[in-house]
Amino acid sequence: MRNPEEKKEFVREKFSSISGKYDLINSLVSFQIDRYWRWQTTRLLKEFPEGPVLDLCAGTLPLSLELARQASRRLVVAVDFCEDMLRAGLAKLPNDNRRARILPVCGDGEELPAGENIFWGITVAFGVRNLSRTEKGLREMWRGLRPGGKLLILEFSRPTNPVVKPLYHFYLNRVLPRVAGLVSGDKEAYEYLASSIAEFYEPETLLTMMRQAGFSKAFRRPLTFGIVTIYVGIK
Ligand SMILES: C[S@@+](CC[C@H](N)C(=O)[O-])C[C@H]1O[C@@H](n2cnc3c(N)ncnc32)[C@H](O)[C@@H]1O
Repeated sequence: MRNPEEKKEFVREKFSSISGKYDLINSLVSFQIDRYWRWQTTRLLKEFPEGPVLDLCAGTLPLSLELARQASRRLVVAVDFCEDMLRAGLAKLPNDNRRARILPVCGDGEELPAGENIFWGITVAFGVRNLSRTEKGLREMWRGLRPGGKLLILEFSRPTNPVVKPLYHFYLNRVLPRVAGLVSGDKEAYEYLASSIAEFYEPETLLTMMRQAGFSKAFRRPLTFGIVTIYVGIK
């Protein structure tokens, strides 16, 4: 069991190690369904096409790019504490006209490098599970949002369907670390992925934590047999 500071260092180091291969492995192991999940998430911000939005734990910027694609006047602040992930994301964009509307910031989501009441929307895709102090991160998200603003968390959950559950379990624990380990050269990073999904909060628990952090409305929407869930919170 790692303490929060050790977890932070471990997570940063693991993402740094796989940063160059992150996008490729994501597409490979998710059969590209991850694109659909991100698209479904970002669509939920369509009522805020212009205001600044924060993409927290932005990584190699897949969600930031989708946010910028869906609204041509939107400014996206992309925060991640792993510089190598942001750099790998930026390397994809030399001739992309969305580059000017994406502002990368290297910073910690648990101590958000931003003032209060700034963003109309905050998105966190596959990032909350990696935070060392989830409650602290949620409170920071609440602080950064404007009143009326929307938090969207896209995160892995555990399917409950009796047919899907064992298949998914086998895939996640046996197949994925081998395939992704081979491609990335870091099997441990993908064993961590499987264990972090297994240990993550039940969806209702995360919703309760969102409410405790101050979100007045909080609800969830499972996708793809509950392999992932979108959590929505309103400030
Ligand atoms: C699984 S990746 C997700 C990247 C991207 N959002 C996506 O949809 O693919 C998780 C990211 O969260 C970042 N991260 C984890 N803890 C963080 C923290 N406390 N503050 C900022 N970024 C963090 C990691 O560096 C990593 O880039």
